[in-house]
Amino acid sequence: MALALHPHAEAHGKAIVLGEHSVVYGFPALAAAVPGSLTLRAAALADPRAPSTLRFPAWGLELGLDARSEHPVARACLEVLGHCDGPLTGWAIEGDSRLPAGAGLGSSAALTVALARLALGPQAPVEEVVAGSMAGERVFHGEPSGIDSEVAARGGLLRFVRGQAPTPVPLVAPLTLVVVPSRVGRSTAEQVAKVRARVEGYPTLARPLLEVLGRSVDQGIEALAARDLPRLGEIMQIAHELLSALSISSPVLDALCSTALRHGALGAKLTGAGGGGCILALPGPEPGDLVDAFVAEGYEPLLVELLP
Ligand code: PMV
Repeated sequence: MALALHPHAEAHGKAIVLGEHSVVYGFPALAAAVPGSLTLRAAALADPRAPSTLRFPAWGLELGLDARSEHPVARACLEVLGHCDGPLTGWAIEGDSRLPAGAGLGSSAALTVALARLALGPQAPVEEVVAGSMAGERVFHGEPSGIDSEVAARGGLLRFVRGQAPTPVPLVAPLTLVVVPSRVGRSTAEQVAKVRARVEGYPTLARPLLEVLGRSVDQGIEALAARDLPRLGEIMQIAHELLSALSISSPVLDALCSTALRHGALGAKLTGAGGGGCILALPGPEPGDLVDAFVAEGYEPLLVELLP
């Protein structure tokens, strides 16, 4: 077992660009990192046998990482440290993040990836970091697909098919995206169940929608490769409408997408499970105007800048 944690680690958040929900049915998804979204720092406690602590003011968390704790964050952290052969006691861990928790931006994967890095060190192979993160993600999400951990650890843009290694999608130029948290909570499991009900109740109507959503991913990747951002924006629009037809948008998400389009976005769609959570907008030439428009309405948009 490693005796020490490394002093500092970072991880990315994630936003699904295309292919949420259809990815559950074996189709590809395209996910983007929300770069440098979470940091952890670790300092040794005076007593190496005292339970470690996690303080995360941005998420209102102050926890003892005690083996008897029932708190899912404490249990997940101990699973990650155990998987990575890290020290299970004796450390004060302090976290900060620009990601809201539980909004579909991969906050738990960012936390568990950064924690795996504290234990494994900055040179650890990304596969080991992802495996450590997944040990914690299983506490939060049962059997997650792994896309959040992959993006949190690798960054950039990834094409992902469930059960397969993700493929990095090269960028030919910087890509700017704007994520807007709706501040409406949602349950991924309930949203996935809603789609399942549509697929079971109306298979000949719902399955083709999922197939087309799946196809939107490679068409979006082609538009990006050609640097045809208006086309990518239209494809995002189509995806939002298909997701709405599957019953997983909401009046709040539709209104946020309309606001984005009114302020120059080339496309806007719900991202992640839907029902609440966030929208993702592809800004036109003036991303600052789009950000300002949401700030003026009292939202806290996140500017996401991905580099080639
Ligand atoms: O939990 P979220 O908002 O990141 O959504 C997960 C994406 C889904 O495709 C809806 C579910 C899944 O397991 O891929």
